[in-house]
Amino acid sequence: MATRNAAHAIPVSPRSLYLAAVSTSDLDFNVDLTLSTEASAMAAQAAISPSDSDALWWRNAVIYQVYIRSFADGDGDGTGDLAGVRARLPYLRELGVDAIWFTPWYASPLADGGYDVSDYRQIHPAFGDLDDAEALITEALALGIRTIIDVVPNHVSSEHPWFQAALAAAPGSPERKRFWFHPGTGPGGDEMPNHWISNFQGDTWTRTTQPDGTPGEWYLHLFTPEQPDLNWEHPDVRREHEDILRFWFDRGVAGIRIDSAALLVKDSALPEVPENPRPGEHPNTDRNELHDIYRSWRRLADSYPGSRVLVGEIWLPDTQRFAMYLRQNELHTAFNFDFMARRWDAGALRESIDATLAAHAPVHAPATWVLSNHDVTRPVTRYGREDSSFAFATKRFGTPTDLALGTRRARAAALLTAALPGTLYIYQGDELGLPEVETLPREVLQDPMYFRSNGVDPGRDGCRVPLPWSGSASPFGFSESSAVAPWLPQPASWAALTVEAQERDPSSMLWLYRNALRIRAALPDIADSELAWLESRSGVLAFSRGDEFVNVTNLSGEHVPLPPHAAILLSSSPLEDGWLPPDSTAWLRTQR
Ligand code: GLC
Repeated sequence: MATRNAAHAIPVSPRSLYLAAVSTSDLDFNVDLTLSTEASAMAAQAAISPSDSDALWWRNAVIYQVYIRSFADGDGDGTGDLAGVRARLPYLRELGVDAIWFTPWYASPLADGGYDVSDYRQIHPAFGDLDDAEALITEALALGIRTIIDVVPNHVSSEHPWFQAALAAAPGSPERKRFWFHPGTGPGGDEMPNHWISNFQGDTWTRTTQPDGTPGEWYLHLFTPEQPDLNWEHPDVRREHEDILRFWFDRGVAGIRIDSAALLVKDSALPEVPENPRPGEHPNTDRNELHDIYRSWRRLADSYPGSRVLVGEIWLPDTQRFAMYLRQNELHTAFNFDFMARRWDAGALRESIDATLAAHAPVHAPATWVLSNHDVTRPVTRYGREDSSFAFATKRFGTPTDLALGTRRARAAALLTAALPGTLYIYQGDELGLPEVETLPREVLQDPMYFRSNGVDPGRDGCRVPLPWSGSASPFGFSESSAVAPWLPQPASWAALTVEAQERDPSSMLWLYRNALRIRAALPDIADSELAWLESRSGVLAFSRGDEFVNVTNLSGEHVPLPPHAAILLSSSPLEDGWLPPDSTAWLRTQR
């Protein structure tokens, strides 16, 4: 990556030459940010209905994650559903997203929010049915929005017919071979087969009970006991998943988000986890055999017209091992959690950006930029904390938070990530600046992470509270009738954060996102050009993308001057005498 020099100077004439109506003056986020006709036309052009010929759409797409239970309730039962999403598609179009990723929408007992699937070919009745899903895919596409669905291949629900059949069958039976059933060790088989630790804390084995009431074999579950792990050495498992992919590709989905993508394959000897496993030798994570599975998924995806993409949920600290999944004949992209987990610190973020781009370059895969998702603490809350990094292990009730500071930084982070090369993910509600809800009464919490930590870890319900759309009291337009209680209660303070309230306020988070996405869609440099770091003061992340665009993010704690520019396109907080305040990002146009 090249480094370019740029002198710092107070801008002489920052009156916008570009996107004239983005700014009516020096760009101050209090001004009306409505786009000019010219810019709107460009943005509309960028969002025309997708066609099969747009084969590279996924390389710089903006992908919006819908956590379906909490997006919008169309049928008035307090739970979000497909009808709710269909009714809000114009909102997503207006926001400027290219695709929606739906968290699992299948039949499920919801022991883990739908990541416990009992039938991959049926929609959960609370969310709608297959006809609704097909209509949604078609309607979204007509608005230029593709659909990505979540496939959960590591495990199924304990209610899945395969697991029910396995429980009913005898030890050693073909039904049990699709899972990891195993006799216990120790006297009477009372000890579990090994001591792997669950991703949700606690044990990974549960003992079955035989028809005569005596204890039987154990079965493996890397998550909850309601999520038994599949045995990926079994041909039925591979066949079934390829069939599930076909089922949904046939219905027009443009991509698959692969849940827990690095966990599927296990060492069948089930050894304990060694202290420092060598790459590829961990008994249940990142095993070499996974690549063969994804190569065959890629062949399947490539056999469909248009680009059907595979996106891996891959949490691996080793960036080289991570990048191996992104080789040309494997997955298209994978979530970049390293950046998301970093603290709000220029050095830490720059290191992550550099490491990410360096890891992706050799495999020619685009990076992804993710500020949050349905599993992690919302950015507005996280960045308002003394420790602004993210780790599952450190989540605690009652962590002090400065939400004003967090919001300011989340605004800056939103522009920073939208300016980086690659795919951008936005988790529903981040565009509204929703904080983590940390005041949920304990009796409404549902997340197994809370229960399995014996109430020490608050779990993930706080980032899954139903969205506020309008009005001044719960359910804030989430359900039409105010008599309906949403499945998780919304804080009264969300009256100020509804879509309706934010649409009226040009300085809102919603308008910041809308304007950022419009500019991103209209500027070819943001899509294609390499990132080049500019010389800057310590604590400042300044880089160009092409000849015309510069991003400056100030994490230094002091106001900083901006590099020379022709116009200010957008800024996450108002400039002061042309200087960029702390915890802010400005987007500059450097040339006509
Ligand atoms: C993934 C999902 C998470 C789920 C887990 C088990 O990490 O994002 O929500 O609990 O897999 O399926």
